[in-house]
Amino acid sequence: MTDARQGLSGLLDTEAIRKDFPLLDRTVHDGKKVVYLDSAATSQKPRQVLDALNTYYERHNANVHRGVYTIAEEATALYEGARDKVAAFINAPSRDEVIFTKNASESLNLVANMLGWADEPYRVDRDTEIVTTEMEHHSNIVPWQLLAQRTGAKLKWFGITDDGRLDLSNIDEIITEKTKIVSFTLVSNILGTVNPVEQIIRRAQQVGALVCIDASQAAPHMVLDVQALQADFVAFTGHKMVGPTGIGVLWGRQELLEDLPPFLGGGEMIETVSMHSSTYAPAPHKFEAGTPPIAQAVGLGAAVDYLTSIGMEKIHSHEKAITEYALKRLLEVPDLRIIGPTTAEDRGAAISFTLGDIHPHDVGQVLDEQGIAVRVGHHCARPVCLRYGIPATTRASFYLYSTPAEVDALVDGLEHVRNFFG
Ligand code: ALA
Repeated sequence: MTDARQGLSGLLDTEAIRKDFPLLDRTVHDGKKVVYLDSAATSQKPRQVLDALNTYYERHNANVHRGVYTIAEEATALYEGARDKVAAFINAPSRDEVIFTKNASESLNLVANMLGWADEPYRVDRDTEIVTTEMEHHSNIVPWQLLAQRTGAKLKWFGITDDGRLDLSNIDEIITEKTKIVSFTLVSNILGTVNPVEQIIRRAQQVGALVCIDASQAAPHMVLDVQALQADFVAFTGHKMVGPTGIGVLWGRQELLEDLPPFLGGGEMIETVSMHSSTYAPAPHKFEAGTPPIAQAVGLGAAVDYLTSIGMEKIHSHEKAITEYALKRLLEVPDLRIIGPTTAEDRGAAISFTLGDIHPHDVGQVLDEQGIAVRVGHHCARPVCLRYGIPATTRASFYLYSTPAEVDALVDGLEHVRNFFG
């Protein structure tokens, strides 16, 4: 044990937790134990979620909302039961405010398209403005660029300070009477920054703009209470929070979901259809055209049960301790530069860095040879790399199963990278 590890508190019983995650037992490259440090890209899945998926397919598989037979009713109950679980997990005032999508990208595209096709007072058009930030994942930039191109609206954004925080010094010029929507990330996937939601929402509310929060890197790691947040929309994805891929969530305020138009048309989202026109089902079904990701929703329900059984506060404390330890140890590595906040305050568990002039792809490859899995590249947040004048970063990200020993393995691995490249 390194000295630095002494005094670490708030850690979970990772020995017990890791037994739930079969993949964490894997080895690669002739018996090297996997050190999985890429949970910001996707988390590993516990046995409880894998079992829920299997049981669904083995015992209850049928289409939902359609059948009158027993198995179809069971499938519907499981799918809608998952909606109840997600609603409780985010403290939604109503289960009807929880829309299942394919992922957070689809959730954010859904908001952009709702507003693009909406009537007044929500309509985004050439006389209006859309606000986002320079630290967004591409999924919270490109949908707004598409909307701006289609409608003639102006796209504006907050910049980033040298230490990886949002630059809100010009908040009154960025968010104005013309702003229709402010869409920003709660936690940056590349910098790890936790953003000051209250300050941004206060200004948005002053000018009557809607607020959409990308909570993809928040929902897995902290208590997410949509009522406390006071946003209008909150988007996140299942696969980063120990759930399966192919399932995302958009939470929206009920009156907005009632007023705003659907984006995708098809089965299950209608009330009546004739050859001339259609009327729509109430939310959330209005926004869930076609056969939904049923098994994936059931898996997400099991993921929510799993996280809840451990406790989101405890998960958050664990990650905070690991992040604090990782920052401390990484800052001891010669030539290592952290891109983003260097203290664990207001910070998530993803840490990006550069190592001298060694290209991150080379860093990632030499780490992989030691069994260490990190993400390298621009992390779907290229404007951040442009902001700091770097082509890419190496990113290590931690979760409820991450251990201080894995941080040590990363630091040793980086020493090896430095030696390898002289
Ligand atoms: N959005 C995911 C990441 O940050 C894929 O890696």
